Amino acid sequence: MQTADRLKKIPPYLFMTLRNKINDAKRRGVDVISLAIGDPVDGTPTNVIDKLAEAAKDPENHRYPTDEEWGMLAFREAVARYYQRRYGVDVDPGKEIVALIGSKEGCHHFGLGVLNPGDTVLVTDPGYPGYKPGAWFAGAEPHSVPMLESNGFLPDLSAIPSDVAKKARGFFLNYPNNPTGAVATREFLARLVEFAKSHDIAVCYDNPYSEIVFGAERLSFLSAPGAKEVGVELNSLSKPYNMTGWRIGMASGNPDIVAAIAEVKANTDSGVFNAVQYAGIEALDNCDAFVERMLKVYGARRAKILQVLKKLGWNYDPPKGTFYIWAPVPKGYTSADFCDYLLEQCAVVVAPGAAYGANGEGYVRFSLTVPDDRLDEALRRMSDKLSGFTFA
Ligand SMILES: Cc1ncc(COP(=O)(O)O)c(C=O)c1O
Repeated sequence: MQTADRLKKIPPYLFMTLRNKINDAKRRGVDVISLAIGDPVDGTPTNVIDKLAEAAKDPENHRYPTDEEWGMLAFREAVARYYQRRYGVDVDPGKEIVALIGSKEGCHHFGLGVLNPGDTVLVTDPGYPGYKPGAWFAGAEPHSVPMLESNGFLPDLSAIPSDVAKKARGFFLNYPNNPTGAVATREFLARLVEFAKSHDIAVCYDNPYSEIVFGAERLSFLSAPGAKEVGVELNSLSKPYNMTGWRIGMASGNPDIVAAIAEVKANTDSGVFNAVQYAGIEALDNCDAFVERMLKVYGARRAKILQVLKKLGWNYDPPKGTFYIWAPVPKGYTSADFCDYLLEQCAVVVAPGAAYGANGEGYVRFSLTVPDDRLDEALRRMSDKLSGFTFA
């Protein structure tokens, strides 16, 4: 059967090789602990679940959610309240917000709604693996922008070659950053807006970890003056409220980009189940305390991992965002080699940095979304097996 050439552009998934190795080990009866995936295990807040149950009983919500194609106005109004309360940002629920099936959908629809075949799109390297397909599916060409530790894992905008910047029509990036954990600053966001304005680039600022910071400022791209003239912010209920399976998020900002995403969406799916949108309103309005509690849980797990890594000789102070720890591998190892070593010696799985791009080589990513007892066990195994390494 012939399948589309565009699919051939998608590189072999490094996680797939790892997944095969994990499955092999499990088949052999090994008790594997995964610290590789960013998928919260602590459960959705009960008030959100209750709201879903209540809304799911109403036959009104059993029909296509297409009356309000951009998402229910009530949901968009909750998004606007959330942005005002948490980030001091005004967004108009009438024309600057569209509901999404998660921010991953936004990356894809941004590509189809904003880019033309042949356009150049800037993507950070390392970067979230959803960005390049967002460009490819639109027929556009991604151009990697390095994100280096020496620059706080922020892209050096002045180092982007001027011929590339001139051609570029879009820019995918996210802070707090998956995979590095880096956070943006107001000053960086201001420079990003200036850069985008001066080169007529549409920014797709993907911000699903906006709530997950440790001693850093919670920031929305839309808080930068002029941001709405150049881009949209994708956000999601997945990570702050442990709702990855519910599939609900939003794109907010530039009305033309929001309308373009909404048009792609209207011609692709029929929106988010209304009962899930009602539950989403509950999360956005009434779960600030839940987020604080989760930050304490992640903070404690983060401290535990860092303490063990430090004892093992990793002298590394990681950035302050997301529920990931991005750490250098020992000298003499590639990220894939070190992942293999951890799997074979400790039955612990972490994500290889190279899976996020060439500049991710030399790092691995630990996720804090693992039950405490499993994390303790993983760290115990690592403490037993990993002493004597030299870390860069
Ligand atoms: C940077 C980034 N963007 C988007 C997503 C997808 O999130 P959602 O569940 O909202 O689709 C993830 C999930 O891991 C992510 O890390």
